[in-house]
Amino acid sequence: MIYIAPSLLAADFAHLATEVKRMADAGANYLHLDVMDGAFVPNISFGAPVIAALRPHSKLIFDVHLMINEPIRYLDDFIKAGADIITVHLESCSDPEKTIRAIRAREVRCGLAISPATPVERIMPYLSEIDMALVMTVVPGFGGQALIPETLEKVRTIRRYADSQQLKLDIEVDGGLKPDNIALATEAGANIIVAGSAIFHAKHPRAVIAAMHEVAQEHPYQA
Ligand code: DX5
Ligand code: ZN
Repeated sequence: MIYIAPSLLAADFAHLATEVKRMADAGANYLHLDVMDGAFVPNISFGAPVIAALRPHSKLIFDVHLMINEPIRYLDDFIKAGADIITVHLESCSDPEKTIRAIRAREVRCGLAISPATPVERIMPYLSEIDMALVMTVVPGFGGQALIPETLEKVRTIRRYADSQQLKLDIEVDGGLKPDNIALATEAGANIIVAGSAIFHAKHPRAVIAAMHEVAQEHPYQA
């Protein structure tokens, strides 16, 4: 099963609750929430209070992507805000092991992300301890960028390893995804697809999500 996760970063920030509802009505499975601190990435988005305000308005799975330095400091805030999945960047944790353990000690799913410049080898030792690997397909910080195709080799490497170890691992891809290129990601082994501008900026988000599901089904993972 492929899950589509619209990224709220591309929403109309003046009408967030309506935007979230628009995504649920369009058939979204997850809601991807990009938290940026202006330090780990050169952009500032929103934080836990905004997520907490949206929680009562939606039953979608809240997939919180923390692009912040030392996220371990804020885990409680995001859990209280209603996160279902918390993803931290390998590059932003001085002690990734400890951060992962802190997330796993709570009732949330744990994701670990790598940016395009980070070699896939660095995430491999953690795969048995996490629920989801997030392979960034653009440099984190901004929506609306073009997907970097080379990053999908990492997805393939991770999927192969997970299968060989019989790990039940979700692999999420994030950045520049749209119906036109989602096949590259699903064939490589990704099963959670984030898309911001492709969905939010579309006139008919429901049609885009349906198209993504359709292409994904026609292009399953090929070992
Ligand atoms: C980038 C964010 C992405 C972004 C995706 O740093 O992590 O989630 O919102 O936006 P699009 O789909 O427009 O590339
Ligand atoms: Zn993201």
